[in-house]
Amino acid sequence: MAESDQLEEYRLRDAGTLRHLERLQLAFPTAKRQREALWVLKSDFSYAASWDGRLWLGLVRFGRNIERRFGITNEVLILYVPYYDLQPRILSALDAYKSSLPAGRLADKQLLLIHCPDPDADAKLESWSPSLGFSAVRLSSVGTIEEIAERLIAGLVSRLSSRNLYEESLAVTGMDFYGREDILRQLIFELRQRNVCGVFGLRKSGKTSIIKELGRRFQGEDSGARIFVLRDMETLPTDPSLVESRLISDLRASFLVGFRERGIRTHELANLDSNEIGPFRRALEASLSDCRHRQVQVVLALDEVESLVGDAKALASEDRAYVPEFLGAIRSLVQEYDNFNAILAGITDATVERGQLYGRENPLFSWAKPFYVGGMKPDEIERLTVQIGSRMALRWSSSAHTVMHETCRGNIFLHRTLAAEVSTSDSVSRSRVVTAEDVASAIPRWQRKIVPRVREMIASTRRHYPVEVEMLETFASDPATFTELSNYYLDEINHLYELDLLRDEATGTILGPLPQLLSQFQQL
Ligand SMILES: Nc1ncnc2c1ncn2[C@@H]1O[C@H](COP(=O)(O)OP(=O)(O)OP(=O)(O)O)[C@@H](O)[C@H]1O
Ligand SMILES: [Mg+2]
Repeated sequence: MAESDQLEEYRLRDAGTLRHLERLQLAFPTAKRQREALWVLKSDFSYAASWDGRLWLGLVRFGRNIERRFGITNEVLILYVPYYDLQPRILSALDAYKSSLPAGRLADKQLLLIHCPDPDADAKLESWSPSLGFSAVRLSSVGTIEEIAERLIAGLVSRLSSRNLYEESLAVTGMDFYGREDILRQLIFELRQRNVCGVFGLRKSGKTSIIKELGRRFQGEDSGARIFVLRDMETLPTDPSLVESRLISDLRASFLVGFRERGIRTHELANLDSNEIGPFRRALEASLSDCRHRQVQVVLALDEVESLVGDAKALASEDRAYVPEFLGAIRSLVQEYDNFNAILAGITDATVERGQLYGRENPLFSWAKPFYVGGMKPDEIERLTVQIGSRMALRWSSSAHTVMHETCRGNIFLHRTLAAEVSTSDSVSRSRVVTAEDVASAIPRWQRKIVPRVREMIASTRRHYPVEVEMLETFASDPATFTELSNYYLDEINHLYELDLLRDEATGTILGPLPQLLSQFQQL
């Protein structure tokens, strides 16, 4: 290949697309100069199509340096809007624009480029941006080619840096999900072996993200032949006498959606006139048989399992016979249908680890396999920090990573909240580079905000693991007594390690990141 060709390898060559691009340039003559500005950035258009005869859609493939700098992972959608008065409805149709793209063309989720003659377009985009859920950057058309390119970069920096992507309180999947490869690999292996699994961990440790990502990967392999039903049990009523009927009606609704989408038999489930476990199980069997016949696999994931099972106090004093009955139904369905499996997630591992539940044998005891969500590895955390940072036009120095790691020690909640705090500081907002000093100076502010939340997290751990948290307090206040007691509380000590409340290091046992933070403030 000639050198000039190599230098221009980013340029669009496909004849068909070039023809569409020419038509776009007829409708919007400035697109020609904008394309040249993209070339300055080693980027180019990769798609163009008319949307409704007036509005045009395009895709831009940014060069590698720009993609890396701003964390762009896909082609970026560009809208050519002819109107002098830009209206929010133009942007709210984004999903429709994206779904009109040819199969396999994915537009970046975070970013949209827009060309519009409205003189107030910049101010409008600025004021709409908090509610958009993505960043819309205007592609200018005035000035020299170089100025258009520079203004695009400045627009990317200012728009991307105005959002704090470290602040994310919902479970994450796909490109927002980082690391956890070991546990995902093991869970996929166990599901294939037809073993029921539990994913347990402290509040905000990443349980829901793991099972959602597991579901995404499981279905992604063959979505027509795989049904993943995820049910969050947090919405169950607190009054135990109402739980069974609500649980069954919720599950029935969730299964019906999954089965109907794939044309599976739902007659029995749809006509079920009881909200009790037994009849529900029999109706579900009819659908599962049909799934087996059509070689469709089904996984039921039950999140926030403590809302069903109850806390340690409920387990000791209440009567919730529906809990072992329900778990028994799950177990027998898994045993009878080789195309069905289940996974549980939540804080408490009582569903798997307790021999007895509410005065009955626990059907899952020593049968289902528990996994515990602990800290993330330094390289996983670093990748998250860098990539999320680049989507906000933020760079981290290597010494900043070190201070982050020494402070948060792999705890995802601590890490994201501290990164969010650091990135809002004045000096980082200005320079877009995070130094070790920036992290160090944000720590006291962050601790004041975060300690009360960590106290709440330990309080909720105590509701499910009271003996463990008492042992943890003994460890912090009286290590000699802890050592003596640990011979008698083997299960509880194991829990402390598995839940990342204690860690075994070369120097001996130390507190995990959350209790360590509390103990630093005499709150443990
Ligand atoms: N693998 C991950 N990659 C990136 N961020 C993550 C990951 N796992 C968790 N997080 C971050 O932690 C937050 C909590 O995650 P998630 O909701 O999955 O935890 P959880 O244990 O289910 O919490 P809860 O106790 O509230 O149910 C998410 O909003 C996200 O910011
Ligand atoms: Mg959760």
